[in-house]
Amino acid sequence: MNVREMVQDAFIQRFGDPAELLVRAPGRVNLIGEHTDYNDGFVLPMAIDRSVWIALRPRNDRRVQISSLEKETPGDFSLDDLHKDGPNWYEYLKGVAWALKVGGDRLQGWEGVMSSDVPVGAGLSSSAAIEMAAARAFAQVAGFEWDPALMAQAGRKAENSWVGVSTGIMDQMASAACQEGHALFLDCRSLHYENIPLPVGVSVVVMDTATRRGNVDSGYNERFQQCQTAARYFGVKALRDVSPKELTEKGRGLDRAVYRRARHVVMEDQRVLDAIEAMRAGDVVKLGHLLNASHLSMRDDFEITNEALNIMVSIARPQPGCYGARMTGGGFGGCAMALVDAGKAEKFAGIVAYDYQAKTGLTPSVYVCHASQGAEVVAD
Ligand code: GLA
Repeated sequence: MNVREMVQDAFIQRFGDPAELLVRAPGRVNLIGEHTDYNDGFVLPMAIDRSVWIALRPRNDRRVQISSLEKETPGDFSLDDLHKDGPNWYEYLKGVAWALKVGGDRLQGWEGVMSSDVPVGAGLSSSAAIEMAAARAFAQVAGFEWDPALMAQAGRKAENSWVGVSTGIMDQMASAACQEGHALFLDCRSLHYENIPLPVGVSVVVMDTATRRGNVDSGYNERFQQCQTAARYFGVKALRDVSPKELTEKGRGLDRAVYRRARHVVMEDQRVLDAIEAMRAGDVVKLGHLLNASHLSMRDDFEITNEALNIMVSIARPQPGCYGARMTGGGFGGCAMALVDAGKAEKFAGIVAYDYQAKTGLTPSVYVCHASQGAEVVAD
């Protein structure tokens, strides 16, 4: 049974009738543009074919009752009395309800069953997928319009202010606004976006190192602070406003580490723009080079790769059919991704998994990913 069937089945077990609504929201893999989102820059993620699913039905009152096939304790809360109950899995849903309410949306209660096949902590945005599935459910039940940017902003607000994790807007936007077969070219300042078709004949392969980011928040928050420091030094709102030329001309007065952080962000923004051009021109070789350069920049300048990610990428790159490879997501563990000739992708995945295991003793998960649709109501 797939996740969709599992939540539908569990709904019948629990409530006696089939669900009235089925929503899903995907995780994402970022093709390029890492740690640029909170610098008001550019990103290029795509939604993956792993998602959070919720089977549900509206209630006549203002309660939300939700159980998860992955968790023992169900969530039960009133939309009239939203308060934090500690580190529960359903705080993500509650946080979204709170953010939507603060944003002026009129909410109605519902009850349902949730399940997910987005791996947790792998850098594939399992929490943004929960947030956007919840937002999709609230929007459909209360009958308000699905505006991807507004919904993503509510998801980010839930994550930052309710759950208490610092993130940019990329993950929620990817989960909310991606289109099947496309990557999402997003300007994280204006939230203007464009769905760009993926080049023909190539596959995106996700390579999960089986290492998990340890103390991610401290690393992430430190990078966040360093970027702010650099932006202040240049006298701009965000590093998005610094050009590569300005960086080299005026950056010398910066602390060395802060300079390297800034260099990653400024050059990564440029790489995203170059990647868009390469995609439009169907130049996958150039796209692959940009991915490789992005990884080096994260390894040497931004310093967010761990050894496992570096090993994975170095195994992937020389394989037949591989155009380029890089770590993806927040870093410090989790996944890398590669752009591979479609005809060679399955074989590539097998070889990379084998070699990685032989070299590290860790059992990775390496699979071809299809660019899926963003958050949607699948059936009602
Ligand atoms: C995490 C955050 C995103 C983004 C990436 C790095 O996934 O949630 O907002 O900052 O890291 O690109």
